[in-house]
Amino acid sequence: MMLQIQELELIMSTHTLLHPSSFQLNPNQKLGLVGRNGTGKSTLLKSIVGEYLPTGGTIFLQGNPKLGYLPQNAVSESKDSVWDELKSALIELNRLEQEIQNLEITAPSSTKLVEKMEQFRIMGGYQIDETIGSTLHGLGFSQSDWHTPCSSFSGGWQMRIALAKLLISNPDIAILDEPTNHLDIHARSWLAQHLSQSSSAQIIVSHDQYFLDQIVDSILEIRNKELHIYKGNFSYFIQNRSQRIESEQSAFEKQQKERAHLQNYIDRFGAKATKAKQAQSRQKKLEKMNVIEQPIQLKKEASIHFTFPKSSTELVFGFKNADIGWELPLVHNCSFQLRSHMKLALVGANGCGKSTLLHSLSGNLPLLKGNRMFGSGVRLGVYAQDVAAQLPKDHTPISHLSNRYFHCTLTKIRSTLGSLGLSSESHEKSISVLSGGEKARVVLADLILGEYNTLFLDEPTNHLDIETAHALIEGLKRFEGCILLVSHDRRLIEQVSTHLGSIQDQTLLIHEGIQPSWLTPQKTGSQKSTEPKKENKLDYQERRRKSNQRKKQEKQIRILEDEISQIELQQELLDQKMIEMSTDYEQIQKLANEQQKIEESLMEKMEQWEELSLILSEE
Ligand SMILES: Nc1ncnc2c1ncn2[C@@H]1O[C@H](COP(=O)(O)OP(=O)(O)OP(=O)(O)O)[C@@H](O)[C@H]1O
Ligand SMILES: [Mg+2]
Repeated sequence: MMLQIQELELIMSTHTLLHPSSFQLNPNQKLGLVGRNGTGKSTLLKSIVGEYLPTGGTIFLQGNPKLGYLPQNAVSESKDSVWDELKSALIELNRLEQEIQNLEITAPSSTKLVEKMEQFRIMGGYQIDETIGSTLHGLGFSQSDWHTPCSSFSGGWQMRIALAKLLISNPDIAILDEPTNHLDIHARSWLAQHLSQSSSAQIIVSHDQYFLDQIVDSILEIRNKELHIYKGNFSYFIQNRSQRIESEQSAFEKQQKERAHLQNYIDRFGAKATKAKQAQSRQKKLEKMNVIEQPIQLKKEASIHFTFPKSSTELVFGFKNADIGWELPLVHNCSFQLRSHMKLALVGANGCGKSTLLHSLSGNLPLLKGNRMFGSGVRLGVYAQDVAAQLPKDHTPISHLSNRYFHCTLTKIRSTLGSLGLSSESHEKSISVLSGGEKARVVLADLILGEYNTLFLDEPTNHLDIETAHALIEGLKRFEGCILLVSHDRRLIEQVSTHLGSIQDQTLLIHEGIQPSWLTPQKTGSQKSTEPKKENKLDYQERRRKSNQRKKQEKQIRILEDEISQIELQQELLDQKMIEMSTDYEQIQKLANEQQKIEESLMEKMEQWEELSLILSEE
């Protein structure tokens, strides 16, 4: 046991988040922490790392383990370069390196120096550069980023720097609050692999079922203000949860009956002198009883409905021969029209310019060259990637929305927030204390109340629990207006978009329908630093053979990518079915078996893909 939590109670002002509950974390255990938005996941993590003082209970860390904590909106504002910032995480190694340098001057032939050098070697001192390089590469940093100051990166990249630093520091317990929110598919799968192979104990909050399934061996769920532990991965948890809720419900009903029975006895006989003793003992029993709360049934999320006013002109926005970017163009000589019937999803590796294109099209960012066009009657609503930055911290959801939409009645604002699942207590809280998913609901309410005919959405499913993300997808499918979407969420893209846009080699390509290969993980960033390869002196035949083989492998990779997309699509449809059928145990069992098979074949294809792409990248 490394971490033991006993009778932990969390009360936020007057609202109880968690009744006294206990759990423990063992060495090497990988625990997924799940629950609907606002149930207290982040607050629980903050209590463990000492950033929040719980109302009651004890948190015991055995053997003083080293904690590594990634908050939900982690930023690294250091002025140091990314490389130096990461290296600073290796406190002990850096200290040892300094000692060695000093000894090399003061006592170059001492045994102490030899000892220190040996210690440095054992602690992996000579692999530092390789570790830092491969972590940065895995998280999508290109080599040109390594020596850039951390502070000049955008929010999503700041989170990655903080994550990389945490991984490098190799904590005994890694505590990660929604680490995948800003990661593309490639970085996500790298992180999943890294975490599952690491020997540290982990507590990971995530709404990404596929990600959790690759890593965790147990699930801790916050539901009904209590902790529920499941010894299995996320799929196992989904299978078992409905059964548990059923038995909780029958325990609740049984206790209700017993209580009613006791109360009945007390009411009837309490006043009678002959029965007073018996009535009193029943009264005591009633008072002593641990009252079972009625379990919240897994209700379906209320539907999200975007009001659609009048349409704009057919042309909504467009570019003519535009160069788009900050100092240097990310997209070059772009001519493109966003039409009113389009639901366009932009995909591509992190940093290729998707969000920048969105800002330029909305007119937020001036073009480097060329012209921007816009239609008339366009009412544009925007969901920014960083929801927290989009909202004023010192307002409440109600004051913020009534300032923006003064023609809306308070009742309308409240009912819109309520329909998105934001509890009425949170309507009056300061936005700064809202959870990630609650903030996202405030922006979604804004998009509903604004009655827009055009929506620009940058990663709108980040922070949302699975059920709400599902409701959002349904709402966007029904929306009759134009949508420009930036997302790494495959289910969202595949279900909502009519067109796909991809930025490749500074060119924007638009495709009607879905092109599976654009949704498969692409290698991002440059390769980790290795020694320059020696020139191979191959004779003509050997070169030709190699080139043919390479072509074959490239073709195989393309085929595999298509196959992987297909399997992933099947998997997501299955996940969705599992959520829909979560109360039907037999169906869930069947679906879980099916999912297991699909997952096996996916892993097999991914392994093949990885092997091949490794061979290709090494050639
Ligand atoms: N300082 C505070 N004052 C009042 N309420 C607070 C405060 N901090 C957090 N809360 C509330 O406590 C609840 C739990 O917040 P928390 O951030 O722990 O949720 P979460 O489970 O991490 O949600 P999400 O999935 O959206 O990240 C929320 O309703 C939030 O509004
Ligand atoms: Mg949270």
